[in-house]
Amino acid sequence: MNQTEHNKKLFIETVGCQMNVLDSELVVAALRQDGYELTDNHKLADTILFNTCSVRERAEEKIYSQLGRFKYSKQTRPNLVIGVMGCMAQKDQKLIFQRAPHVDLVVGTGQLAEIPRLVGEVRNNRDRQLAVSLGRRDGSRTEVSQSFQSYDPLRDPEMRPSPYQAYVRIMIGCDKFCTYCVVPMTRGPEQSRPPSEIYREVVALKDQGVQEITLLGQTVNSYKHTENGKQSRLADLLELIHDVDGIKRIKFVTSYPKDMTVDLLQALRDLPKVAHYLHVPLQHGCDEMLKRMKRGYTVADYREMMARIREIVPGCSISSDFIVGFCGETEQAHQKSMELVRECRFKNSFIFKYSERSGTRAAANFPDDVPDEVKKRRNNEMLDLQNAISAEDNADFIGREVEVLV
Ligand code: 5AD
Ligand code: SF4
Repeated sequence: MNQTEHNKKLFIETVGCQMNVLDSELVVAALRQDGYELTDNHKLADTILFNTCSVRERAEEKIYSQLGRFKYSKQTRPNLVIGVMGCMAQKDQKLIFQRAPHVDLVVGTGQLAEIPRLVGEVRNNRDRQLAVSLGRRDGSRTEVSQSFQSYDPLRDPEMRPSPYQAYVRIMIGCDKFCTYCVVPMTRGPEQSRPPSEIYREVVALKDQGVQEITLLGQTVNSYKHTENGKQSRLADLLELIHDVDGIKRIKFVTSYPKDMTVDLLQALRDLPKVAHYLHVPLQHGCDEMLKRMKRGYTVADYREMMARIREIVPGCSISSDFIVGFCGETEQAHQKSMELVRECRFKNSFIFKYSERSGTRAAANFPDDVPDEVKKRRNNEMLDLQNAISAEDNADFIGREVEVLV
């Protein structure tokens, strides 16, 4: 290792979903191959990366305020490289340079493979770098899809928080276009990876000692890929991975209610390594709100799905996401959501106050008219209800023996 290589130190801050955790793992692995060492002290780093989330405004504001704090560091250490990657990079693009002029690098979710080259470019030439994908309306579907590259290089075992657990991306993007959500813009069109590629990755992870695999996709059960004339769905993929000796447990997140098919539930029932756990966000318990959110199902459809899960996979744990305070949500509508939390008895629910996101259909078409204190109150009400249900369910486990992976 030469002197300059020895000095390359990277600090990375990751916020957001599991997809981001995986992206950071892969980017760090690539930079390590490029001679970087990881540090958890930003004062020792010469390269600082933020892997960002755009789903709610608060997450973005936090990143902007953190970026602001590095302005002074940049004045005292002009060689510092500061980069913003991920969803906020794709969404805000040049705006990031305007709001934080000391940022050197903005890299979207579809260009992560280029990070080592782009960081090198900044380091050597002090040239600002912007690499992002096309907007959803800036080209044909093929052109836009090609501009979002799935980033799944070979894995570096040292980068995982646990050597026994790993995420595996099976698809990128989303085509559901729920009216409140930026993900179809920040992660691009839905694209499933070939089963053969996923299989190879799982085998490689198994060889590194991984025992638990979590398959990732924004709507993971919408997975669909045709290879050599044969179409594979998630159920087929589970069966394929199930055959890998050494893999002991398989999970997948996040599911879309409309794609919870019988064959998938039968795979859950019949394949002992697949965990009996489903994360299937309902988002709201009132049909009018679901329609306005363009979720594509009614409360009755969701109830049917719950009955199907409980019939085919008895005892399956189910968790959900809810949005409170969406545009036009009345007290009555909120109470309907509360009722569904009560009725479905989710293992857990992630509850979010609606946050208007520019570029979405909700931002264009409906006023964000529920006052923040009302959103807060509804959020707390729902959280209290869910916590009480979770506590009751957890109490059921007292004295029971279960198998855990430590
Ligand atoms: N405001 C609040 N919550 C949102 N989510 C997605 N978009 C928004 C938004 N604009 C929530 C949904 C989704 C979870 C990941 O984040 O509940 O399932
Ligand atoms: Fe967003 Fe809806 Fe896609 Fe989930 S399914 S990522 S909420 S657009």
